[in-house]
Amino acid sequence: MIAYFSGMANHPSPSHPLRDSIDLMDGNWYAGRPHDDWTWMRHNAPVYYDPNSDVWAVAKYDDILTVSRDPATYSSYKAPRPKGDPLPMMISMDDPDHLNRRKLVNKGFTPKRVRDKLDQIDALCDMIIDRVCEKGECDFVWDIAAPLPLLLIGDMLGFPRESFDDLLEWSDDLIRGTTTTGSPEASEKAMLAGLAFREFQMGVIADRRANPGGDDLVSILCEAEVDGDRLDDESIVQESLLILIGGDETSRHVITGGMQALMEFPDERERLQADLHGGIEVAVEEMLRWVTPIKNMARTTMTDVSIRDQTIPEGSDIIMLYPSGNRDEEHFVDPFRFDVTRDPNHHMAFGFGTHFCLGASLARLELKEMFTKVLTRLPDIEMRVPQSELPWRNSNFITGVEEMPVKFTPTAKVGASG
Ligand code: HEM
Repeated sequence: MIAYFSGMANHPSPSHPLRDSIDLMDGNWYAGRPHDDWTWMRHNAPVYYDPNSDVWAVAKYDDILTVSRDPATYSSYKAPRPKGDPLPMMISMDDPDHLNRRKLVNKGFTPKRVRDKLDQIDALCDMIIDRVCEKGECDFVWDIAAPLPLLLIGDMLGFPRESFDDLLEWSDDLIRGTTTTGSPEASEKAMLAGLAFREFQMGVIADRRANPGGDDLVSILCEAEVDGDRLDDESIVQESLLILIGGDETSRHVITGGMQALMEFPDERERLQADLHGGIEVAVEEMLRWVTPIKNMARTTMTDVSIRDQTIPEGSDIIMLYPSGNRDEEHFVDPFRFDVTRDPNHHMAFGFGTHFCLGASLARLELKEMFTKVLTRLPDIEMRVPQSELPWRNSNFITGVEEMPVKFTPTAKVGASG
């Protein structure tokens, strides 16, 4: 068994002393990839209560499924964050309101709409790699992984390209604010980013209302009717923010984390590179399982419930620890092995049930195309610093590395424009 990253315990040991001080809201805990704690939880406290934050967690695959599939008992009305307030966005709603809202946005994510993006995604990947390929080195996060999801989702929302640098900064500042152990500056930045995004989006909404008929997602939201009513501006702001962050922060971390895993496990990389076109789809599923960028989603119990030997009172916040479910030894054979040919691979990186990720097919296509391009055009790409030196984001929601310096043999541009 090999550790995910250098410095992490190799064999998560269920015989650890009782961990009575796990802080489920601490972003640094998630940033530390606490797989040994999660393994301990699965073995000793699969339904865990953190008295400091008054939040419950389920750590086992089957329990995460139970919670995801029973929205009448485990409501999303305060989701997605524990101790959060209800928000006017689909992820913070129960059916039928949730489904009505989801159907509107779904128009932009039908299998055909996603398939039609293939040429655009290919051209964007080439454009992104063209910007760095002659240099022989770059920062993998900011030069390669972050631009693709942002360019795609920003275009789908119909935002002007000149706003993309701001969008990237706002979405990052907002995620850096999702922790109880951040600096006051980080909280302040998150608040300012929320306000700035709101102001920007209000301008876009005013423009779409004045110029109806567009087919971008903001136009769809502006013109949509639910039970004869139009969505109010605040709902459109929140829904767009969900799509922006859902689309931007997540795929980026799987592109980076998947590349990291390939560099850490050269035998697996060799196996994939030997049959890249035949093997990439299965390998991408393993990257999703391995990285699991969304660390948890929250639900609220609508009645007293019992899971295993624990009774959770009505009105409690409960989080589903997806990375733990994705290493559950009762569900995955040899779960701590990164195996690019793992099949079947019923991972839970996209969640389950009625809130199953709306952007899953888009994310899968992005990952497939980006890895195919990177491994073809920069085949000897390697890390420039030890894995243990990579800085991880302090967030209790979505984590990944902030920077990843890499080097490769310089190659020629292919001259695509995005
Ligand atoms: C690797 C990339 C991604 C991962 C790992 C991921 C993961 C997730 C997870 C875990 C959920 C919540 C499931 C639940 O609460 O049960 C979710 C929901 C959602 N995701 Fe993603 N996501 C990814 C990419 C995307 C993209 C590209 C978009 C949009 C462009 C997107 C949009 C959404 C939306 C709108 C929801 C809320 C769905 C609902 O409430 O019905 N995601 N995603």
